[in-house]
Amino acid sequence: MVAVVESRAEVTGTELSIRNVTKQFNIKGKSTPVIKDISLEVRAGEFVCIVGPSGCGKSTLLNLVAGLEHPEEGAIWEAKEQIQGPSRDRLMMFQDAALFPWLDVLGNVMFSLKLAPQIPKEKRIELAVRYLRMVGLGRFRRSFVHELSGGMKQRVALARALAADPSILLMDEPFAALDAMTREQLYFDLQHIWMSQKKTVLLVTHNIREAVCLGDRVVLMTGSPGIIKDQFEIDMPRPRDINSVSLAQTATNITHALKGAPAVFQGI
Ligand SMILES: Nc1ncnc2c1ncn2[C@@H]1O[C@H](COP(=O)(O)OP(=O)(O)OP(=O)(O)O)[C@@H](O)[C@H]1O
Ligand SMILES: [Mg+2]
Repeated sequence: MVAVVESRAEVTGTELSIRNVTKQFNIKGKSTPVIKDISLEVRAGEFVCIVGPSGCGKSTLLNLVAGLEHPEEGAIWEAKEQIQGPSRDRLMMFQDAALFPWLDVLGNVMFSLKLAPQIPKEKRIELAVRYLRMVGLGRFRRSFVHELSGGMKQRVALARALAADPSILLMDEPFAALDAMTREQLYFDLQHIWMSQKKTVLLVTHNIREAVCLGDRVVLMTGSPGIIKDQFEIDMPRPRDINSVSLAQTATNITHALKGAPAVFQGI
């Protein structure tokens, strides 16, 4: 189902550098830090999953990287440029697919390519179809959004994000609203797509097993204010099976670390 497409990103140097970032919001009339002094380096082509309890500032951190919010202290750098605002280079995928209901599936994916007028229309269609095939929806290109299931909508959103060829893909709980079986299929497909594309991905989730299944690294946040409590490199071979014993053991160890308890299994 998943075609192999040449990757743009090389697995080299640092793609994203979050340096001593503090973000405050006005909560109940008081300026309150919601994330405090966070530093994180993400390598080009790395898949980083951020896990933490509700309200610890995960979405805020993603919004800062997207340039939708600005830090009070510290700075975020994409390659050699300080992030000052939103950019097509840093695309966000949300829990809700946020598709355009007046466009069909192909139209939704082609929308990403609209801002590339140098690409002739036939080539844009070809590219959009290629990304739809990659997410397993080649046959549904003429369907409208209301005709799709939740999982299919997220696939379209993924194809649309990939078609824009961002340097960094930001994903805020993209599978949270889906049923377990659909989610498991998407974990599998996303791993294959990532292996062929090697995009830099920052994915936020509540689900530690999901993070272990997808990430090169799992970053644990706690709050509040949100800080990075710990980080774990996950060097299990891909594609990973979310139901495998070794993955479950790794996830259990991380859960224990999150709760401040010692690991129950050796090695992560
Ligand atoms: N625009 C805003 N104005 C004021 N407070 C905000 C704003 N956005 C977020 N907050 C507050 O900042 C804190 C962190 O919110 P955030 O949405 O980043 O958490 P989260 O870790 O993503 O939580 P969840 O897992 O529930 O999505 C919360 O206390 C939230 O109420
Ligand atoms: Mg959130």
